[in-house]
Formats: sequence, structure tokens, C-alpha cells
Amino acid sequence: MRVKFERRAVSSRLALMSLAPAVLLLAGALACARNARNDIKPHESTAAPAHQPLYNVFDVAPGLISGSAPEGDAGFEELARRGVRTVVSVDGAPPDVAAAHRHGLRYVHLPVGYHGIDRERQLEIARAVRDLPGPVYVHCHHGKHRGPAAAASAAVLLDELTVPQAIALLKKAGTSDHYAGLYECVEAARPASDADLNATPDDFPERAPVPGLVRVMADLDETMDHLGKIRDAGWATPADHPDLAPLAEAGRLENLLRALRYSPEIAARPREFQAMLRTSWDAARVFEDALTVSPPSSLLADRLNAINDSCKACHAQYRDNR
Ligand code: HEC
Repeated sequence: MRVKFERRAVSSRLALMSLAPAVLLLAGALACARNARNDIKPHESTAAPAHQPLYNVFDVAPGLISGSAPEGDAGFEELARRGVRTVVSVDGAPPDVAAAHRHGLRYVHLPVGYHGIDRERQLEIARAVRDLPGPVYVHCHHGKHRGPAAAASAAVLLDELTVPQAIALLKKAGTSDHYAGLYECVEAARPASDADLNATPDDFPERAPVPGLVRVMADLDETMDHLGKIRDAGWATPADHPDLAPLAEAGRLENLLRALRYSPEIAARPREFQAMLRTSWDAARVFEDALTVSPPSSLLADRLNAINDSCKACHAQYRDNR
């Protein structure tokens, strides 16, 4: 039996994102069908293990590259070596602006979620690519899902790629079909007019202001969603979501709750709030331990539900009745 996790609270930002594909599909339906102009140019790919300073690097369009988050000075050095001058992060984590500056690179931080990229954000990314010194390197964390979707949709808005070419790029980058919202927003992307691009804000922050708690909550929510899929697949990697490793997701959940527990923001909260967070973290650890047992224990579903209950308990007290 499927237990649906609590997902009712969504910030207006996330709500907007989930609405965006519908709006964009409408816009797409109104737009004229476009003929594919030219075939995909040969893309450079340097798929490499995750500990590399730079990997999953793809040429998206002339002067536009997508890939993984640059790792330390070596990552930025490699970007500078490739001639890159502007780095656009669409990841939620604060970018390493200081390291970028050491290598003469300017950062732009325009985070996007896994549920799709709204038109406004697509325009902002496209404008950054158009107006800031190139080549421009667009990255998320691993360069597989959000980064390629952001870069490819920007290339469509700038009339550098057709939609089929953009979709082909996502496939090539390994963007999982699971992220239907990412594919939908690229499917629905259409070239933007100069007027639309010029009307888009161009203050391009090097670090987006991200409220800590809300950000962590969104990550917790995504991780719980993944774990629900893993449960439905019999506590294994779901066939349609090969990038979901059960233990990695459980570890991520535990990490998020632990980091939150020790954050200064939480220290200022009431004692009972901290106790509830502790309960949630304990539940995550118990679940993670249970997941290491093979074959999967019959208690796992209860353990996962216990985490969900701990989320709900705190929300009932500190979120939903404000
Ligand atoms: C100790 C208390 C506490 C626990 C435990 C907790 N949350 Fe939250 N959560 C909050 C508060 C408070 C907010 C409202 C934050 C705000 O809007 O400032 C929130 C907001 C959220 C949101 C909305 C975020 C947004 O984008 O506005 C989601 C989703 C969420 N939590 C998911 C979870 C999940 C999943 C868990 C369990 C794994 C969890 N939370 C555990 C306190 C908690």
C-alpha cells in the first residue's frame, strides 16, 4: 500500500514552479512550430568520477557550457583554462565566490529546483548568458539534471538551439526522466523577444539570498519523496530513477537534519522545537541503520513513517498554525 507523504506546504516559489510548465505549455501551443535548423553540433563530454574538479562538461551552444559544480581551486582553474569568464550556478548551495574571483571569474547565482524552471528564471538565465562576458559555464551540483535543463532552455530562449536539440542535450547529459518538470520546461521553451529579455532584471547576484530553514526543508521534502519511491521499488533503486541509491538518500536525510540541528538559526528557537528536531534526526538515524540490514527488514516502512510523523508533528506545532 502506498502512503502518501505530507506535501501540502509548498512555498509560493515552489507553487509557481509547478504551475510554470502548464503556463509554458500554453505559451508553446500558441507559438509557431519551428523547423529544426541544424543538427546538434558535436559536444565535448568529459564524464568522470565525482571527485574530479570538473565533470559532465557539455558544450550547449557557442559560448555556453554546462557541467558539474567546480570543485575547489582546481575546478575554477580548469574553467579559466577553457576561457570561461562567467559562472552561473543554478544549485541551491551558496557558490564559492572567493575561489571564482581568485581565477578572474564572476559568479551569478540563480538557483532552480528539480520540479522545473519557471519562465522568469529562464529569462534571467538567458539574459545572463546574453549580456555577461562569455563563455558562460552553467552548473548545478553534478551537472546532470538542473544545470543542463537550465543551460538548454536558455539556449532555446536565445534561439541558439531548437527544442529537439535541447532535449537531445538533456538525454546526452543523462538528465533523468524522473525529473519530468525539467523536461517539460525545456519542451515548452520558446525563443524570447529582445523586449522580454531587456525587461528581465539584470542585477545578477553572486549569491542568492536563501533562507536557511526553508531551503533545508525543501531538501528534506525532496529526499522523503525519493525514499517513498525507493520504498515502492522494494527498498531498491527504482527502475525509472537509476540515480537514487537507497543508502545515499537515507544518508542525505540524516545529514540535512544533523546540519540543521547544529545551525545557529535553530539555536535561537524554543527548546521544544529543538527537541522535535532531535526526534526527527533520531528517526532518520534509526531508519538509516535499518536500511543497512539485508534482506530488507519488514520494519523499514514503519521506520520511514516514523520520520514522516516527526515532520508532521513539528509542522503542526510550529508551521501550520502561524
Ligand atoms: C523541528 C521542526 C521541524 C521538523 C522536524 C521538520 N520541519 Fe519542515 N518546517 C518547519 C518549519 C518551522 C517550517 C516553516 C519554515 C518557514 O516558512 O519559515 C517548515 C517548512 C517545511 C516545508 C515548506 C518549505 C518551503 O519551501 O516553504 C517543507 C516542504 C517541509 N518543512 C518538509 C519537512 C520534512 C519532509 C520534514 C521531515 C523529514 C520536516 N519538514 C521536518 C519545521 C520542521
